[in-house]
Amino acid sequence: MIRKLLDNANIFTPINRGRPTAGAAMQQLHHFPRGAILIENGTIIEIGERDQILARAGKLAIDEVIDAGGACVIPGFVDPHTHLCFVAPREEEFSQRLAGAAYLDILAQGGGILSSVATVRTCPEEELYQLTRQRALAALALGTTTVEIKSGYGLDTESELKMLRVIARVGRTTPLDVVATFLGAHAVPPEYRDQPDAYIELLTCEMLPLVARENLARQCDIFCEQGVFSIAQGRRLLAAAKALGFAVKIHADEVNDLGGAGLAAELSALSADHLLAAGDPGINALAAQGVVATLLPATAYSLRKPYARAREMIDRGVAVALASDCNPGSSYTESMPFVIGLAVLQMGLSPAEALTAATINGAYALGMADRVGSLTPGKQADFLLLDGKTPAILAFHAGVAPVTAVYKRGEKVSPTSR
Ligand code: NIG
Ligand code: FE
Repeated sequence: MIRKLLDNANIFTPINRGRPTAGAAMQQLHHFPRGAILIENGTIIEIGERDQILARAGKLAIDEVIDAGGACVIPGFVDPHTHLCFVAPREEEFSQRLAGAAYLDILAQGGGILSSVATVRTCPEEELYQLTRQRALAALALGTTTVEIKSGYGLDTESELKMLRVIARVGRTTPLDVVATFLGAHAVPPEYRDQPDAYIELLTCEMLPLVARENLARQCDIFCEQGVFSIAQGRRLLAAAKALGFAVKIHADEVNDLGGAGLAAELSALSADHLLAAGDPGINALAAQGVVATLLPATAYSLRKPYARAREMIDRGVAVALASDCNPGSSYTESMPFVIGLAVLQMGLSPAEALTAATINGAYALGMADRVGSLTPGKQADFLLLDGKTPAILAFHAGVAPVTAVYKRGEKVSPTSR
């Protein structure tokens, strides 16, 4: 057994309440200004004021003392919504959008998501793996210790399975916890252009059962949007997914309010994501059902759209999570510190609320809260050292990540000495 002690740490952590932290409780953190954490085999055994922890640890053999030197310590970020598995960012399209083209119009003309599909389909699996792994490691260096990665640039059985195998391999070969989500319903592929219901049928009857059998994902997602998939199609696919044991989530009300948030509430989804256009009924339904609202401010930033109504959501008792949405089109960033900065300065979250959103609530949005998302005995010792006195530094020190060290299961994984 390896026993470690994190000492001299100014610790801030959200509280694990056994359910997503909603409303006013998002503001509450535990703070141990002179704190310590006792770690055994990568798991947190005790956390508290250092005098107390040292008194108990004094009788134990400690293999390694990690001296934080008074630095601020927080849990590793949980990024519960990414599309990190792609070939190349779509820079030409970014320029078109700067010149006034609309995101959904580019998709309707066969570009956007569909142009990323064309490149993923022909990319050798090994190359796709290397590209995805590099991005996951970039996120890790910026403080993300648990990440969700979606499929959804294959849109045929073979290419979707290729993506999911790549995602699983990134989980096995990097320090990160990687949660795979099946997003075969990301767009209607060209072969099914005029028959989206037949594609839903293929997803439901062929792809979902295969993904379940090969154990390649435990979550299923769909992009419900005008010109993409309807709420009725979403209900059909996600009900089938639930029957096969998948947890479900929805790209909901991103550009138009189709009622995606309401569908997420109806299906007791793990989360409803985006919500830039969500109206009052949808927001109230999320609050009533305790469904996490995963907000992606870097997408609003990159698409130059109004931000989701995060402040109102929290004030109405919604549990908000934050995610990067890192993808080749609408949000190209691996950086959770950047996302936290946008949440604080553009959406009106306090630094404490943003930390709760970027850690414990992200963990709930992934069904991972028993293992990650807060510095709580029994959970993994996933933590970050910050160059600052409080988590507010994450929003204040713009354009850089004030993350000086990243620990996963008690091991320093960034920066590495090599
Ligand atoms: O979450 N909205 C749909 N899917 C992604 C964008 C994917 C892409 O543009 O490649 C999103 O924003
Ligand atoms: Fe997305």
